[in-house]
Amino acid sequence: MDAALDYARQHADRFVEELKAWLRIPSISTDPDYAPQTRQAAEWLADNLRAIGIAKVEVMDTGSADTPGHPIVYAEHHVSDDAPTVLVYGHYDVQPPDPLELWDQDPFEPVVKDGNLVARGSADDKGQAFMHVKAAESYLQSGMDLPVNLKMMIEGEEESGSVNLAPFIEENKDLLAADVVLVSDTALFAPGVPSIAYGLRGLAYVEVELTGPGKDLHSGVYGGGVENPINALARMIADLHDEDHHITVEGFYDNVRDLTDEEREAYKALPFDQEAWMEEAGVTKTKSEKGYSVLEGTTGRPTLDVNGIWGGYTGKGAKTVLPSKATAKISCRLVPDQSPGEITEKLRKHFEAHVPDTMTLDFRDLHGGHGAIVDTSAPAMQAAAEAMEGVFGQRPHFTREGGSIPVVADFKRILGLDTVLMGFGLDSDSIHSPNEKFGLDRFHQGIEAGVRFLDAYAKQKTA
Ligand code: BES
Ligand code: MN
Ligand code: MN
Repeated sequence: MDAALDYARQHADRFVEELKAWLRIPSISTDPDYAPQTRQAAEWLADNLRAIGIAKVEVMDTGSADTPGHPIVYAEHHVSDDAPTVLVYGHYDVQPPDPLELWDQDPFEPVVKDGNLVARGSADDKGQAFMHVKAAESYLQSGMDLPVNLKMMIEGEEESGSVNLAPFIEENKDLLAADVVLVSDTALFAPGVPSIAYGLRGLAYVEVELTGPGKDLHSGVYGGGVENPINALARMIADLHDEDHHITVEGFYDNVRDLTDEEREAYKALPFDQEAWMEEAGVTKTKSEKGYSVLEGTTGRPTLDVNGIWGGYTGKGAKTVLPSKATAKISCRLVPDQSPGEITEKLRKHFEAHVPDTMTLDFRDLHGGHGAIVDTSAPAMQAAAEAMEGVFGQRPHFTREGGSIPVVADFKRILGLDTVLMGFGLDSDSIHSPNEKFGLDRFHQGIEAGVRFLDAYAKQKTA
């Protein structure tokens, strides 16, 4: 392993230059106009994997002829039938960079500023996925073989809901057979404070539209005689929480796995700087579900948030309109064992039951995904803890995170595999936002942790 670690340190600057080249390709998966560039990013990665000496590399198509998906980069390097197999998952697609005017630079022209690589995708997830490519290179190009059989599946649709991924996994069970999945697409607890995530939240995303009058009306001529859909939707939304910040949808909490006493103790032991967190968020007061701390509320409890709301006149100046329609995008972060399908149906029932008799309702299911909790005592988790300790000189905390990576539940359900979430982002990386960044220190720590994880896991499994 030492030769691989030396190699990684010697080639650190070149690794960054390569990552920059990948970041220049705008692989925005949600925008069909960028489909060619999204494929180009897949091909770029495949070429890089071939160049470092991975035996088998393929760019595999997804979806159907009618509705093609973005390709999956699959790579495999078999060393021995006796060695365990690690499947690395990541994504090469990125969120749209909008709003462009809030960036200090071109989002697809990476710049190093104050030790951070600034570009769309630098932290989420090209920079983190690439760490494992460079960890593999550090073994293969320093005259050693990999300590494990390595498989990699880097997809291009994570930011658009991974619609073709579960079917791909179903169809390629043998190809993807492994002992454990390794993912770097989450965050460190804080700078210099190593952590391994054992929990992720799920997601249920819907759109709700109320229609009142058949067309926009003059609010002076008709106001007072017809109900306004924006007023009505605002009231329905306001009623979704009670004064304890509980969600009022019937049965919403039915399958929520409560935080255990051990978990709540562990939360208290985390070095959480709430003042700094508030400053980062730009708030002077926090709001969490009654009885739960901010950290518990943002990672271990379900939520409901309106993501957007519109209707009527939103341009400059005043227009006395009584609108025909009001629409809102609403999403819930879920925790195990809530099911996105069931929550969506409960939301549908709730809205149907509360829609005023002056309105019609159109309720649309956009997408969803399951949350996940992995067993921290699994051998792979302990190997990850050892790897993190090797890099940071201290044991990592096991944490739950508030974001969602729905494929983690699919790995368990379809392949029976646990996932190790060894992420190197920071909450302050501005993922999905302007000026997304990834600390170069964390990029190099992640490569080293990748090298150390493969070694520790191989030793565990053969011990
Ligand atoms: N990498 C993130 C998820 C994440 C972020 C996990 C921070 C933990 C901490 C991922 O790329 C993402 O953005 N997921 C989406 C869900 C997806 C279904 C669009 C999310 O969480 O909103
Ligand atoms: Mn991600
Ligand atoms: Mn993301």
